[in-house]
Amino acid sequence: MRLFLDTANVEHIRHGVRLGVITGVTTNPSLVSKEGNIDYKRHVQEICSIVPGPVSTEVLSQDASGMVVEAREVASWAENVVVKIPASLQGVEATYELAKEGVKVNFTLCFSVNQALLAALAGATFVSPFVGRLDDIGENGMRLVKEIVAVYKNYPDSIKTQVIAASIRHPQHCIEAAQAGAQISTVPYQVLMQMIQHPLTDIGIRRFLEDWNKVMGSTVLKSKVS
Ligand code: E4P
Repeated sequence: MRLFLDTANVEHIRHGVRLGVITGVTTNPSLVSKEGNIDYKRHVQEICSIVPGPVSTEVLSQDASGMVVEAREVASWAENVVVKIPASLQGVEATYELAKEGVKVNFTLCFSVNQALLAALAGATFVSPFVGRLDDIGENGMRLVKEIVAVYKNYPDSIKTQVIAASIRHPQHCIEAAQAGAQISTVPYQVLMQMIQHPLTDIGIRRFLEDWNKVMGSTVLKSKVS
């Protein structure tokens, strides 16, 4: 499973890329607005120059023709732009049109297998089932990811759409998305930071240093590692 960062924050994206584990970014209008009143085009282009992979940006139009016009414009900003189109009927039509033109679409706000099927049939490159938002209303978001992955697997020759487990809220979601076979999980920066955490690792590092220092002393350690 690949990891994307779900943010529009440039510093967080730089850090994720530096770690070598982030190969894409997803944004949405809420995430972009957290960055303040920015020059949107320049901001997207900056993100695209940092990230070695797809950068999803969402259209605001509600009708198919408006989505297509907006998507064409956004897709021209950088080679790795992917356009996020919402899982509406208008969105299916726009996805079909854009896919024919070679514009990559991330079919977003997906909450059902049928929406994911239509995304695939219309030619979306990615589909984003929103796990956390389903959990929020008492449903099982990860079950949807599993079901979409399973259905897509029935048609390996015709369905090439990749599943992005989105609306990830905690590290356990990442584990479950990988177990479900999602190709990608898009995670908030805070979740990326949590993924490496384990108290036994911290305790282990501290104890190793203490044991070393008791015998070798800290100055010896410094000269050994320098
Ligand atoms: C994904 O592409 C979305 O930007 C994101 O995962 C939404 O997450 P949220 O439900 O936490 O807002």
